[in-house]
Amino acid sequence: MRPFKLERFFSEHEFVTRFPLCCSDCETVTVGELLELAGRDPTQLLSQPLMYSDPQGDPALRARVAGRYRAVSPDQVVMGAPQELIALTLRCLIRPSERVVVITPCYQSLWEVAHAAGGDVDAWPLVEGSDRFEIDMDAIDRVLLPGTRALIANFPNNPTGASVNAAHMARLAASCDERGVVLFCDEIYHGLPISPAEDPPPAVDVSPNAISLNGFSKTFGLPGLRMGWVVLRNPELRQRVCEAKDYSTICSSPVTEMLSHAALDAESALRARNRRNLLENHDRLRAFVETYPHLFDWRQAQGGSVTLLRFLGLPSLGPSASNFCDAVRRSAGVLLAPSTLFDFGDQHIRFGLGRNRQDFANGIDALARCVEELERGTPTP
Ligand SMILES: Cc1ncc(COP(=O)(O)O)c(C=O)c1O
Repeated sequence: MRPFKLERFFSEHEFVTRFPLCCSDCETVTVGELLELAGRDPTQLLSQPLMYSDPQGDPALRARVAGRYRAVSPDQVVMGAPQELIALTLRCLIRPSERVVVITPCYQSLWEVAHAAGGDVDAWPLVEGSDRFEIDMDAIDRVLLPGTRALIANFPNNPTGASVNAAHMARLAASCDERGVVLFCDEIYHGLPISPAEDPPPAVDVSPNAISLNGFSKTFGLPGLRMGWVVLRNPELRQRVCEAKDYSTICSSPVTEMLSHAALDAESALRARNRRNLLENHDRLRAFVETYPHLFDWRQAQGGSVTLLRFLGLPSLGPSASNFCDAVRRSAGVLLAPSTLFDFGDQHIRFGLGRNRQDFANGIDALARCVEELERGTPTP
């Protein structure tokens, strides 16, 4: 597999750069805050035995996850770290030489694992419309050619924030079903709609053959739990994924499982808080873009916590978004993710909108000062 560009970038810069403005997760809480929001006694944590747990995931947790969908049973849910579940599911789903379509730009593993499984991977690019990134529904027949094994989607999409409405989701699922294509939908950014004010329904609620992936990392703001789930109705595929998991983590930590229950208890409080941050950061980014319309062009996100700006170039740096991101990181300590990290040219920049409002505001102020200096051709070292 090629190195995971975005994850390598964060590993190098996220924890040593002052203003990380491009992270995709929402503002987190401490263990104590989570238990308090969940109305749970914190001493429960101290009496939690550190034993192995059910490899498929705590049955009570799977039952609660299953209850989030229309007709899913607890035995159809497999718990694990979201990234782990992408890797295991796509590896087990795709056989060498099978054709796979991935909606792009995308989180690299959605493409990379399919490719590593031997898949013959084709892109279905989102279109940069006049006011949003959107799926080209008219391309369905051209894209879902006979013999296609899977369509891999992620709505709301990382990095564009593009989403689909319920009608489009139903059409995608029906088109996949008619052709025997498995729809794999990464729904980890569900729960933070911006515009329209609703997410599409989960893929597994519109097709019995689809697969939905979700977790606590983004919308809940709890990436440190390393916990998510995948809904696998097909018993053979589920069996293969469970068998593959025996070679990755075997099972989740029971501490994580206990805190995952707390996360579900606290879901509405966490989401409300994260949505407040998101909408305020959204307004702040809009004000920034409106101040520099000659430098940035923005198709706003429809959901989730990430969004993509087009960089229009600066005389002192040229048109490259990665040059711009390098310059603002070095001179102002502002971390922005260029679209090169998503194999999506070098003209766009990903921002993350889910973090603390004050930190985001401080970061945007530092970015604005740096932009002014770059415009004058004199960035501070
Ligand atoms: C679309 C998408 N899916 C999955 C993941 C992986 O989530 P985690 O880091 O919690 O494993 C990410 C993380 O950025 C993501 O953006």
